[in-house]
Amino acid sequence: MPRTRLHIGCGPQTLAGWTNVDNRHYPGVDRVLDVTIGLPYSDVEYLFAEHLIEHLAYDDALNFLRECRRVLAPDGILRLSTPNLDWVLRTQYLPALWKCDDDAVRDCFVLNRAFKGWGHQFLYNRQSLAATLRLAGFGVVEECRYGESRHEALRGIERHDTYGDEDTGPHVLIVEASGRSSGAEPSTEAQIAEFRRAIDSV
Ligand SMILES: C[S@@+](CC[C@H](N)C(=O)[O-])C[C@H]1O[C@@H](n2cnc3c(N)ncnc32)[C@H](O)[C@@H]1O
Repeated sequence: MPRTRLHIGCGPQTLAGWTNVDNRHYPGVDRVLDVTIGLPYSDVEYLFAEHLIEHLAYDDALNFLRECRRVLAPDGILRLSTPNLDWVLRTQYLPALWKCDDDAVRDCFVLNRAFKGWGHQFLYNRQSLAATLRLAGFGVVEECRYGESRHEALRGIERHDTYGDEDTGPHVLIVEASGRSSGAEPSTEAQIAEFRRAIDSV
């Protein structure tokens, strides 16, 4: 019996051999599900979510990652890809290059688009993504390159473009999370708790 491989937030980019899950009825989606409600699975071998968590409010993302940890088998792996906040700041808001007010206006809108455009809810840097995964109960967080993995089933499954990453550094963070932790560092956890309150109090 093959073990379960879940491709979450797949959109139209379905993968053969995986259970493709999305909250919309795209062609090829095997299960329509709002993953903020929970993941009705167990003993999952691999979970893959490309460009999903930035579309979830921070608390929903944290709960989703906790669910991922809960439904993964003890040796299971979660592979995530999400826009890299460091890349956004490095490439999209460049006061040193402004020659006129229009340049500043453009960068202002471009930066806000990165945060709020396309339904984005929260952007992560490398450290906050790792801290959130630890908070969700993962013990090991490994950074990966686009298309590469120590695990054969997780190689070559990204579908988004690399947008000239050679010149700018990676525009997406790709990580594989596994194992178990009892949380993030207490100081990191306290900091996240403080800002979660601020983010929620709209
Ligand atoms: C930016 S698209 C990424 C699609 C695909 N993974 C890719 O990389 O091209 C985000 C996808 O996540 C799905 N999504 C957003 N919120 C979701 C939720 N709460 N539960 C399940 N899917 C969700 C959207 O419908 C959309 O297909």
